[in-house]
Amino acid sequence: MKFFIDTANIDEIKKGMDFGMVDGVTTNPSLMAREGRNWRDVASDICQLVQGPVSLEVIGTTAEDMVNEAVELVKFGPNVVIKIPMTMPGLEAVKTLANMQIETNVTLVFSPLQALLAAKAGAAYVSPFVGRLDDIGQNGMDVVAGIIDIYDNYALDTEIIVASVRHPGHVLESAMMGADIATIPFKVIEKLSRHPLTDTGLEAFLADWKTVK
Ligand code: E4P
Repeated sequence: MKFFIDTANIDEIKKGMDFGMVDGVTTNPSLMAREGRNWRDVASDICQLVQGPVSLEVIGTTAEDMVNEAVELVKFGPNVVIKIPMTMPGLEAVKTLANMQIETNVTLVFSPLQALLAAKAGAAYVSPFVGRLDDIGQNGMDVVAGIIDIYDNYALDTEIIVASVRHPGHVLESAMMGADIATIPFKVIEKLSRHPLTDTGLEAFLADWKTVK
C-alpha cells in the first residue's frame, strides 16, 4: 500500500520522507492557501523535493479552462498529476488529458458511481473523501469498499486514493480492504506509529537494562 502525504507544507513533507512514509503528495487549494506563500513557489518546491506523484488541483470550472491550467501545471515536473473535481466538465477534461497522456486524480468523490465515471473517463487516480462523509453521518469507508468492488468487477486500473483521512482507523480499514493508496495528513502519520504498550514496554526494557551487569 502506498502512503501519500496530504499537505502543501514543505517541512511536513520532509519529515514524512525522513520516515520513509511519502510515496507521493496531494495538495488542494485550501492546503495551498494555508501556506501563505505564492502557490507557484510552493508547487515548485514540492515537485523538486518529491519523486513520486504530486497532485496539483485546477480551479477552473469549464473543461477548457481545466485543460489549459493542466498544461501549465505539468510544467512543474514530470511527476505532476492534475487534480480535477468530479463534475461533468471535469470528466470531459479528464478524457481530454488522458488523450494527451497527462495523468489525472479525480477529487471530491463521494459515491462509487462517481468513481466509476472517473475511471471510464480515463482517470489515473480517484479520491473518495471518507472523513467528510463520516462528518455528515455516512460511512466513508463503505464508499471505498463499493469502489473496490466495482473496479475489481471490471478490471479497471484507476488507483484508489483514500482521502480526507482523519484517524488511524481510516488507514487500517483502507489497508485491510486493499485500497491502493491513502493520502494522510502529517498528524495522522505520526499517530500511526504509536501504541501505549510500545511506550510502557520500552520504558521497562530501558529500566531493566540499567540493572544488567
Ligand atoms: C485529498 O486529496 C484532499 O486534499 C484531502 O484529503 C481533503 O481532506 P479534508 O476533508 O480533511 O479537507
